[in-house]
Amino acid sequence: MGRLGYAAANLGEKELLLGVDRLQEWAKQATVPLISSNLVYQDTGEPAFPSSLLKSVTLGGSAGKRKLKVGILGLAKMNTGLSTSTPDGRRIVTADPLVTAKTLVPPLRKKCDLLIVLATLDPNQARDLAKQVPGIDMILGGFGPLELSEEIPADAGSPGSGLIRLSYVGNQGKKVGEIRLFPAEQGAPAKRESYTVILGKQVPDDPAIMDLVEKNRIAINEINKKSAPLVDGEKLRAMWDGESFVKSAACKSCHEEAFQIWEGSSHARAFHILEEKHQDYNPECVGCHTTGFRRPTGFLNAKSTPDLENVQCEACHGPGKGHPDTIGAGYGPVSREFCVTCHTPDNSPDFNEAAYLLKIRHWEEKPAPDAASASSR
Ligand code: HEC
Ligand code: HEC
Ligand code: HEC
Ligand code: HEC
Repeated sequence: MGRLGYAAANLGEKELLLGVDRLQEWAKQATVPLISSNLVYQDTGEPAFPSSLLKSVTLGGSAGKRKLKVGILGLAKMNTGLSTSTPDGRRIVTADPLVTAKTLVPPLRKKCDLLIVLATLDPNQARDLAKQVPGIDMILGGFGPLELSEEIPADAGSPGSGLIRLSYVGNQGKKVGEIRLFPAEQGAPAKRESYTVILGKQVPDDPAIMDLVEKNRIAINEINKKSAPLVDGEKLRAMWDGESFVKSAACKSCHEEAFQIWEGSSHARAFHILEEKHQDYNPECVGCHTTGFRRPTGFLNAKSTPDLENVQCEACHGPGKGHPDTIGAGYGPVSREFCVTCHTPDNSPDFNEAAYLLKIRHWEEKPAPDAASASSR
């Protein structure tokens, strides 16, 4: 974050899981200031990390070399269950964010031109904060994938700009929020513009940062790999009474042609790409690149169930045990909408139903009820 030029990072309860002593050590050394206004020592109520930040920014453009003082606070969601102990036996808890803000905003407001609150609060709490604590200009929030962009009118007489900007831009670094401030100038009042920029293909990755990300991904994958449980998947399937997976090879003898077509498709090799990327033990990836993940007797992990890697027949047609003896004609209907459970806009941006179906087709095209109009297209 320091290399990306962040001015501050707000700590939340997830960061505390890294260990308080390590975090406090980092907070001293990090190139990006780590702050929290409401992670406090339980015994004294004192902040466990720097509780606010004052930053001087030089304005560009026609504003000349004017300085703007920016005050930053960081609020974490209150969690009464959270109580982390420090190495010397003290405890860190979350103080009520609203009460904390009421105490910290007025003195900080006196020292700055712009007051920003970084918040891991749910949107309703953030709105309450905007309405109940005069003096805030912007609340930059983070709450999982949630996205939000609002202007909340401030109380009359509030020292802020009249409208409080509330922005949440989702998680995983897929989007970045941009707020442009234009100070009042002769003949033009101050104004503010807000955008959400999607970090898609048109925004190239930074090679140095990607290198860091890549190294971390590999390290995390190694940890997952070591801790993944080892079970005998085959034995488990043999003992299982209910629906169960039998693997593509078991379909071959009766559906030779379908098998050949599938074997030639990238579904049959879909796991390989995860190995190449060192993401074969990432639970966020394997679900769509394997067969029956998180289903009984389905893919568990690469060491326990290597034979259920890849998008096999049963990833689409469902567990095949009992077919065709007991489940005959009724087995395995695949609705076309099913493709998009894996071919999501994020993971398959070029997905086009007709073209993609054609590429994997291993079935007789049944004449559609409106075949006449379809063939005339
Ligand atoms: C929701 C389902 C889903 C998840 C989760 C998923 N993928 Fe995929 N992935 C796909 C699909 C579908 C394709 C095929 C896209 C296409 O060709 O249109 C694909 C293709 C790929 C490709 C080859 C295409 C490319 O972009 O180079 C790679 C590499 C890949 N996935 C890696 C990953 C990694 C790493 C993860 C975890 C971080 C992951 N996938 C998680 C569904 C998923
Ligand atoms: C990516 C999903 C997917 C995979 C993987 C897949 N199929 Fe299919 N399969 C379909 C779809 C979609 C249909 C067409 C269903 C329909 O039109 O009702 C189909 C149809 C079929 C049919 C019916 C044939 C017909 O003419 O009506 C058979 C048999 C079949 N698949 C066998 C297999 C076998 C065997 C495998 C593995 C070797 C396999 N499928 C892998 C999606 C898949
Ligand atoms: C022993 C031979 C045999 C094996 C093995 C077999 N099938 Fe079938 N399959 C059939 C027969 C026969 C039918 C036609 C059933 C009917 O019409 O009653 C059929 C039909 C299907 C259908 C179409 C169902 C329909 O009503 O349209 C699909 C899909 C299918 N099989 C998929 C698979 C898959 C996937 C596997 C492997 C998991 C598999 N089959 C293994 C013999 C087999
Ligand atoms: C269980 C998840 C899953 C489902 C369901 C699924 N796919 Fe895929 N599909 C993938 C993954 C993962 C890849 C990428 C494999 C790779 O490149 O290694 C892929 C790749 C493809 C490709 C190759 C793309 C290319 O240009 O190389 C086609 C075509 C495709 N899928 C069609 C379909 C269709 C049509 C359906 C629905 C009938 C479907 N898929 C359902 C996971 C899935």
